[in-house]
Amino acid sequence: MKQKILVVDDDAAILEVLEMRLSAMGFDVAATSDPRKALEAVEASRFDLALLDLRMVPTDGMRLMEALHQRQPRLPVVIMTAHGTIQTAVEAVRRGAFDYITKPFVNDELRAKIARTLATRRWARDRERLLTVGQALASSGVMARVLDSVAQATVEATDADRCVVFQLERGALVPMASAGSPPPSWERLEAAASAAMDKGVPLAVSDGADGGTIVASPLVVQHGPAGALVIETSVRLEPGDDDLELLALFSSQAAIAIRNTHDLERLRSGAVAALGRMATQVAHEVKNPLAGLRLYAHHLEQRLARAGDAEAKELAGKIAGTVDDLASVVAQITAFGRPPELHRTATSLHAVLDECLELGRARRPSERVEIVRAYDQSCPQAMLDARELKKAFLNLVLNALEALDGAGKLTVATEYSAAAGIVVVTIDDTGQGMTEETLARAFDLFFTTKATGTGLGMSIARSVINLHAGELTVSSHENYGTRVQARLPLEPVTK
Ligand SMILES: Nc1ncnc2c1ncn2[C@@H]1O[C@H](COP(=O)(O)OP(=O)(O)OP(=O)(O)O)[C@@H](O)[C@H]1O
Ligand SMILES: [Mg+2]
Repeated sequence: MKQKILVVDDDAAILEVLEMRLSAMGFDVAATSDPRKALEAVEASRFDLALLDLRMVPTDGMRLMEALHQRQPRLPVVIMTAHGTIQTAVEAVRRGAFDYITKPFVNDELRAKIARTLATRRWARDRERLLTVGQALASSGVMARVLDSVAQATVEATDADRCVVFQLERGALVPMASAGSPPPSWERLEAAASAAMDKGVPLAVSDGADGGTIVASPLVVQHGPAGALVIETSVRLEPGDDDLELLALFSSQAAIAIRNTHDLERLRSGAVAALGRMATQVAHEVKNPLAGLRLYAHHLEQRLARAGDAEAKELAGKIAGTVDDLASVVAQITAFGRPPELHRTATSLHAVLDECLELGRARRPSERVEIVRAYDQSCPQAMLDARELKKAFLNLVLNALEALDGAGKLTVATEYSAAAGIVVVTIDDTGQGMTEETLARAFDLFFTTKATGTGLGMSIARSVINLHAGELTVSSHENYGTRVQARLPLEPVTK
């Protein structure tokens, strides 16, 4: 399709020359000396460029440019001016002209300026498009936001009046996002969307409101169309090949965004649970052989001891120890996969914490770790799941002791507010702390920075606290230490 250039000059001779030269360059030229005719032309169809004479009566090129821009906002305008009025031409550029050219034209200046204008416009659109698409893809993964930015980007990069993203939901097309002015009729847009989905390719329909055009491009996700991206342009802005191309590109990007978002949503809901189930199954399968292995290793250890082979006995002991470690990992996984259900009994939180500290110390013995208990004695007994909480706090205590790596201070404090019915348990360590990345991922399932870690401790702790309707937060400074806080609502047990 030929690119269309509008030329307006009140000098008939120049007009004629320009028309000839531009036609020879392969453009579709509309030349007129009448500004009103120019406005009508832009209202009737869309142009790729306008060449306007600066000095015309009764209206000047600048005013005409502004009137044209009201009708086609992104129409690139090149102002033609005689020598001596360059100042005004510069002013025209400031007010929205793309460029200016001085008369009489020298050599190939006209051709060069036109080529540059058309190319730059394309480049600007491409850049805009890449930017907006990038933003859409990088956005939060919340479907509504992704679709909104796709619609917005489409309106900005095309000259469409509006864009609507339709999604197929339970067999019906639902408008999920829109940008630009509200459509006078949804039915026509929906019909175009459904036609494009049937055909599987972008379609242009001359069926828009007031005789405009509707272009619909299917959003193809995996097995088929999941919806369509639809734009509507007013009658004078008939979409060109460029627009169809652009729309196809946008819809493929939108489809990717939709697929990513779907995946993410599925992952958030089902996958974690599925992973949990799978892990439990695997753990279950591994548990029994492990118990056998442990037994054999102990037998072996005893026999070797009796036989007086100290070296081999030590080896067998190491095997038993490693099997024990494995068994505790398996126990954690099994615990994680268990359906969340609390068995609340009258529990003393401090007794639970004491037990965790004892256990922790036994598992990570060190004389150079100072343990401080700062318990709020007003904290009452409450209905809690002692076993689950022990699991949670033991993991936190172990993390702290591991971070201390043999030296430093571990503080466990409680603070009870009777008025709020909340106890805050704070576990502070002066250990190595976390990097920003570790902090951001500490609660991720299976995230660990330790050679023998499983990356389950924090997730387990959080899920237990959450089950108690509480909140677990963590703050940390690299090389200074870490603070983990559990806010637990308490319902005191009246004795
Ligand atoms: N108190 C802490 N100080 C420094 N880093 C910590 C602390 N607590 C957790 N982390 C970091 O968070 C990561 C995840 O902790 P999490 O307890 O979930 O797994 P893990 O300790 O690595 O393995 P495990 O399942 O055996 O507990 C740790 O690997 C560690 O990098
Ligand atoms: Mg841990």
